[in-house]
Amino acid sequence: MTQMASTSALPRLLLLAPPGAGKGTQGRRLAELFGVTHIATGDLLREHVATATPVGREAKSYMDAGELVPDPLVLTLVLDRIGGEPPLDGFVLDGFPRTVAQAEAAMRWAVDSDRTFHAVVSLEVPTPELIRRLLERGRASGRADDNEVTIAERLRVYEVKTAPLLAFYARRGLLLEIDGSGDPDLVFSRISEALTRLGVSS
Ligand code: AP5
Ligand code: MG
Repeated sequence: MTQMASTSALPRLLLLAPPGAGKGTQGRRLAELFGVTHIATGDLLREHVATATPVGREAKSYMDAGELVPDPLVLTLVLDRIGGEPPLDGFVLDGFPRTVAQAEAAMRWAVDSDRTFHAVVSLEVPTPELIRRLLERGRASGRADDNEVTIAERLRVYEVKTAPLLAFYARRGLLLEIDGSGDPDLVFSRISEALTRLGVSS
């Protein structure tokens, strides 16, 4: 099934990219541009870990190891945020979906809620640059999974479990492949221009 872009609704965008590609950086800016909610599963999970909720206690060991948190846990977390009566109209989902099972569940939710997605933005950045950015952030902010060993595992997991979603969304006519290297302002203008060409604009 192909989902068509619509100009009448607030944008519903997905950011699909490897660790360090700029999902958070660009996701925040896109959400601000369109006046929609930025929902980053990694941020939500880190909040749960920081406050030691049951979700956080279950997620922590996976995150520390650079593995994906189990699908049912992540799906509950996301659907709690975008579901409801009525479901959220516009949003930027950052770091979700990350597995084919998550993508299929998200698609079912979208169709059932009449909230189909307008575009999936993929950010392409060479691996050495991803590693450089993450190590730098690790040194500056101390994010627990920004160390050499865990970064390598996060990149491996991305290739195996998440990269297949690029074809999943390309088949549905939703994929926008954006060069994610260079200055963040430049990346942002590439994304906004591609979205405008698709009929998604503020
Ligand atoms: P998550 O928090 O999503 O981490 P990630 O995918 O590894 O990505 P990052 O947040 O590290 O990078 P980013 O792409 O957001 O880039 P950013 O803008 O920050 O997930 C963490 C963990 O949670 C996962 O490993 C997993 O365990 C779990 N999880 C999350 N979602 C899940 C799901 N759906 N299913 C199962 N488990 C899930 O940029 C990175 C750095 O680069 C920053 O310092 C930034 O300032 C800098 N930067 C950004 N853009 C540029 C640029 N253009 N030039 C130079 N520097 C830049
Ligand atoms: Mg992020």
